[in-house]
Amino acid sequence: MTTAVSDRRRLTDLLAGDLAFQAPAREAHPLHALHPFAARFPHGLAGHFINGLTRPGDVVLDPMCGSGITLLEGWLAGRNVIGVDLDPLARRQSAARTSALDADAIKAAGHAALERAEDLNAGNSHPHDPLGFVRGGMDDATVKFLDYWFLPETQAELAALVLAIRAEPEPGLRNLLEVVFSSTIVTKSGGVSRARDLAHTRPHRVAEKQPRSALRQFEILVNRAVDAYRAVDTGTVGQSAVAAGDSRRLPWQDESVDLIVTSPPYANALDYMRAHKFSLAWLGDPIPRLSELRGRYIGSERQSSGESASDAVPPSAQGVIGEVARVDAARARVLERYFQDMGAAIGEMARVLRRNAAVIIVVGPSVMRDVLVPTHQCLADIASRVGLDVVGVAPRNLDRDRRMMPARRPAKAVAELAGIERRMHTEYVIGAVRP
Ligand SMILES: C[S@@+](CC[C@H](N)C(=O)[O-])C[C@H]1O[C@@H](n2cnc3c(N)ncnc32)[C@H](O)[C@@H]1O
Repeated sequence: MTTAVSDRRRLTDLLAGDLAFQAPAREAHPLHALHPFAARFPHGLAGHFINGLTRPGDVVLDPMCGSGITLLEGWLAGRNVIGVDLDPLARRQSAARTSALDADAIKAAGHAALERAEDLNAGNSHPHDPLGFVRGGMDDATVKFLDYWFLPETQAELAALVLAIRAEPEPGLRNLLEVVFSSTIVTKSGGVSRARDLAHTRPHRVAEKQPRSALRQFEILVNRAVDAYRAVDTGTVGQSAVAAGDSRRLPWQDESVDLIVTSPPYANALDYMRAHKFSLAWLGDPIPRLSELRGRYIGSERQSSGESASDAVPPSAQGVIGEVARVDAARARVLERYFQDMGAAIGEMARVLRRNAAVIIVVGPSVMRDVLVPTHQCLADIASRVGLDVVGVAPRNLDRDRRMMPARRPAKAVAELAGIERRMHTEYVIGAVRP
């Protein structure tokens, strides 16, 4: 049985450690490479806190689990991992990365799906026009979207693959095949679509691009997935549950979690849906529904109303909201909503944590209308407001110039840091304990 003092000290020591974790990707478990995802934190960072603060069998949560870095690291280390995300592609990836699937079963299911798809694409099985069949179930906006971004021959192959994957009866294998399917599209090169880059930036259509065969890409990527699952020791992994949900209303009981490691969206959030809809539209999500969902993401510009409490915004955040408001009132409202939402999300984290258990939040500053938003400091202040004991806010710098900042810092000092922070790409690790 640990004491509050020793838990706090352990977290302090972990925050003072080397948080850079710039290890080459090849040192990561091959399941991390199953599918690209923008703005992931390094797997070593999650492992550092999971191994330092929990034991096998403990419950580790990521309430905005994204591609599932925290979940995969915890699961491989025998922790029972739980995750929530609003994004359907994030959930598919997180679930696939933490499923104890048999590599031979994946190989058999993947190759059977490929054979079915090839038959369908050749017009040898029912339905004889797979593309017409798939498009028949879509609304006009989705069809228009696909016509803009995919050549007709690619669409025919993707439709055949979608139908072939639908026929896989085992849900875990079917989900994995959908993730592999998606990874033929959502890639840095834009994969089999006509987009230039779908892993990092705003998609641009490239007129001269000759996309590769979706069927051949699927085959290559299924084989890669088989190798990745061979590297899992299914005897030592934990249990996993990934739920569709909102971090502002977590579906778990009070005091049921031993550690949270998460990286929330930044104040000027990445638009995940912009890239994810390229594969989700094929997997059965209509573009209009995805656009509506996108407005519910924390940090999105088009927020639907009525989800969050407004009393959690601390003076540090109010100050920066005021600064942005002087130049752009609409952006200031987006920022205010971001802090309200993060107040609700961090409040939920505090609720589900056991006493003396820790929450690790990885976040960085952002610039909005030339105003530096010290998101990390504002979120640390929010964490204090919802009753967490903020142990430290530790920077992770690419140049490994690490230093600890006191947990609470006056707004003036935050402003003084602005000049330094503009020049460096720094992320911060907020460590807090539930008293
Ligand atoms: C920075 S990413 C997380 C990356 C993650 N650490 C990983 O391992 O890939 C932030 C995530 O928050 C999710 N998100 C945004 N608003 C959310 C909400 N209200 N509830 C749950 N997840 C949300 C986004 O879909 C995105 O996957």
